[in-house]
Amino acid sequence: MHKILLAAAALSVPALAQAAEPGDIAAARIGYFSLVNLEMGGLAAMAQGKAPYDAERARALAGDLKLLSEYLHDDLLMPGTSNAELAGKTRALPAIWEQTEDYRAKGMAFREAVAALQGVAGEGQEALAPAVGKVGATCKACHDSYRAKDF
Ligand code: HEC
Repeated sequence: MHKILLAAAALSVPALAQAAEPGDIAAARIGYFSLVNLEMGGLAAMAQGKAPYDAERARALAGDLKLLSEYLHDDLLMPGTSNAELAGKTRALPAIWEQTEDYRAKGMAFREAVAALQGVAGEGQEALAPAVGKVGATCKACHDSYRAKDF
């Protein structure tokens, strides 16, 4: 019985999941950062006073951003998916694959800044604003080295 179930499961997997092509990886990467941007945008609006501060919403946005920051996006760094190979489809610079340790370190700095932000997001606009600023600096530090200005 058990064996039959396992065999059935093995058969159904390829039907659901397809091996990713380089273009799919680039699209997934852009999708990932678009989610990061969405959560960060809501927080930045509150930090800058463009949206009213709401502790519950700030906590929810920061929680989602924390989840995203913990996603180890090594799977999105498949070789052959930089803008040198996929011109027009990605802004990821080849430097990511030449200095992967530094790229990962910038990812860790982002993750740590988001964890700090999540700790204070519900504690008022004055606590939120500087923490959002620190996260923003980690976005910029990575983009400056690893993201092309344009597609
Ligand atoms: C560790 C590096 C790193 C960090 C940290 C990082 N990004 Fe990015 N981001 C990238 C790379 C690389 C790309 C390009 C992805 C691609 O085009 O394949 C990107 C792309 C984007 C995009 C573009 C999607 C598009 O349509 O071109 C947005 C928006 C974005 N990031 C926002 C953010 C924000 C906001 C933060 C911080 C809250 C952040 N990123 C943190 C590396 C990073």
